Amino acid sequence: MSNDGVNKGRRRLLVGASTVVGAAGTVGAAVPFVASWNPSAKAKAAGAPVKADISKLEPGAQMIVEWRGKPVWIVRRTAEALANLATLDVAMADPESAKSKQPAYVPATSVRSLRDEYMVMIGICTHLGCSPTYRPEIAAADLGADWKGGFYCPCHGSTFDLSGRVYKSKPAPTNLEIPPHFYVDDNVIVIGEDGGNV
Ligand code: FES
Repeated sequence: MSNDGVNKGRRRLLVGASTVVGAAGTVGAAVPFVASWNPSAKAKAAGAPVKADISKLEPGAQMIVEWRGKPVWIVRRTAEALANLATLDVAMADPESAKSKQPAYVPATSVRSLRDEYMVMIGICTHLGCSPTYRPEIAAADLGADWKGGFYCPCHGSTFDLSGRVYKSKPAPTNLEIPPHFYVDDNVIVIGEDGGNV
C-alpha cells in the first residue's frame, strides 16, 4: 500500500473514531431525560396540540401524553391530596407560582389547575431537565414522614408537590411548567391550545 493509501485509511479511521465519540457524548447527555421517558413515543405531530382522554384515569393515578416532544403529566388528585396542598404552602419555594411558568388563566394558588381534581404539567425538572418520578405515597420512607405525595427528581434531589410546586432549598428554581390546555368536556383535555381561555 502506498503512503497515500495508508494516510487515507488512517484519516478515515480518525474521522470514524471522532464520530463515535460525538455520538456517545450526545447519548450520555440525554440519559437523564431518556431514562424515564420513552423516546420511541417521539413527537407524532411536533408542535400540534394533542388530546388526552382522561375517562379511565383513576383517583391517585398519573397518565402521560407527549406534546412537542415533552412528557405532559396528568394526575388525578384525591380529595385527601387536594386538602394537603394548602398546608404545604410554607414549605414551597414559590407557593403562588409568581416566578413559575403557567398560563394566566390557571389559578396561581396551591391547586394550580383549571379543575381541582386534575393537575396538568410538563414533566421536566426546571433544574437541568431530568424527568422526575411520580411518588404519590404518603410518608414514603425515603422522602420523610412529612411527605404528602408528589414528584422526586433523581438527578439532584428536587422534590415537588402534587401541584408541581418545588420545595424550598432544592436545586430546581421554579415549579414545573403548566402548558396551555383546555377541557373539551369532562373526559377530554386538549394540550397545547388555550381554547378560548384567557
Ligand atoms: S435536574 Fe432535577 S434536580 Fe437537577
